Amino acid sequence: AGELCLTVVVLGASGDLASKKTYPALQFLFQKGFLTRNTKVIGYARSPLTDEQLHAKLRPRLEGGAAEADAFLKRCTYVAGAYDGPEGWKALAAALAAREARHPACPCGRLYYLALPPSVYPQVCSGLKTYCDALPSTEGSWIRVIVEKPFGKDLGSSEELAATLGALYPENQLYRIDHYLGKEMAQNLFVMRFANMFLAPLWNRECVSNVQITFKEDFGTQGRGGYFDTFGIIRDVVQNHLVQLLAFVAMEKPLSIHPDDIRDEKVKVLRCIKPVQEHNVVLGQYSAAGGQPGYTEDPTVPDDSRTPTFAAVTLYIDNDRWAGVPFVLKAGKALNDKKAEIRVQMRATPHYIFPGQPEATRNELVVRLQPDEAIYLKMIVKKPGLEIDTAISELDLDYSKRYPGVAIPDAYPRLILDAIRGDQQHFVRRDELRAAWAIFTPLLHAVDAGRLPLHPYPYGSRGPEEADELLARAGFVKNLDY
Ligand code: BG6
Repeated sequence: AGELCLTVVVLGASGDLASKKTYPALQFLFQKGFLTRNTKVIGYARSPLTDEQLHAKLRPRLEGGAAEADAFLKRCTYVAGAYDGPEGWKALAAALAAREARHPACPCGRLYYLALPPSVYPQVCSGLKTYCDALPSTEGSWIRVIVEKPFGKDLGSSEELAATLGALYPENQLYRIDHYLGKEMAQNLFVMRFANMFLAPLWNRECVSNVQITFKEDFGTQGRGGYFDTFGIIRDVVQNHLVQLLAFVAMEKPLSIHPDDIRDEKVKVLRCIKPVQEHNVVLGQYSAAGGQPGYTEDPTVPDDSRTPTFAAVTLYIDNDRWAGVPFVLKAGKALNDKKAEIRVQMRATPHYIFPGQPEATRNELVVRLQPDEAIYLKMIVKKPGLEIDTAISELDLDYSKRYPGVAIPDAYPRLILDAIRGDQQHFVRRDELRAAWAIFTPLLHAVDAGRLPLHPYPYGSRGPEEADELLARAGFVKNLDY
């Protein structure tokens, strides 16, 4: 058999996600030689564009000079068509068939990438299934479908969507992206946990006091208000990205690194989490400050919107390893900082015999996902000198120092490459999604009904003060730097 004849079909090719993420990720893979020479990208969307018009739209988003961009764009063509009528789908099917017919000896891979809002997934998937499902019979040929969140608004709507898509494509053809699973440090967290003897005996309720998983952005909705307002921060970031990180922190060691063994363990731990209780939640919404607009001043957001742009939520995992240990997930837009990190804080050392404040000297393991990937362990050491005096120091792995000049790949190219290789490890399985929604659905219904207080916080601040109280209740101690 010849080499794979790969066609990536970008559905929604004229949209924002496609030009910001999908095409640049494909270009990256192409430039690095990860795509076979026999790769083509067909864009599909409703806008009547020519190939040249599509190229002009994509060019400013691509890496490198004109020659590099052109080398990639040469492979990109466009088919215009509706999502609900047969003509467009037939034209797409014809384009695929014509291309594949030119390589009769090759296995054919088709990756259907839905860079579209989920409201059209059922329509689009059924169009693809009806008109674009006929593959050449060459052995090793395949069709895979990549979809992006939001997968529903709660457990019920997510299950409904999953059932509709599931009737068209079986689980092994569906790749649900949570791009946090494609981040270098999320993947490292998994390796770090299960490859290091010294961590294993400490990783439990005996030694861990609390875990914080934090996502902060220093900008507001920036024109995405229309989308954001129907979802809010819990659905946008917490129920998916932060819960996936939590699963890596808390899961048991899987039988093997086979994708289904890993996802089995993630599902198990997620199913041990009780639905969030309202008293374990702090919600906020940013208000105008420092010349920056408040959330409801976004023209695409209703003036009386009560959608949270900040949430701090304490979860408990009811199993032998974690019972009683608070996991605080915190996410907010328009805060003072841009970062994502995981902070595992240990209990205080019993019978602390050194000078200083034992309560303010806690070991902490920090995994920083972004910016500046790093893992560091805060530990207590002797200060140099004649006296026995202690200081908190860091054992650290700073990626920019340990791997100078090594570019860390972005999440999207990594995930697209996984899908091309048929590796589902870093994609969300249907039962994982169900378990994650189950944790948040009662809370989301209470939030939607306006039953929870919404604390205003100024744009660019640390978020509502009430969140610090929630953290303190979870037992988090701020280490004093001394
Ligand atoms: C997306 C959310 O899934 O993740 C955005 O919809 C958020 O609101 C983004 O800004 C954060 O991703 P990253 O990779 O920039 O941390």
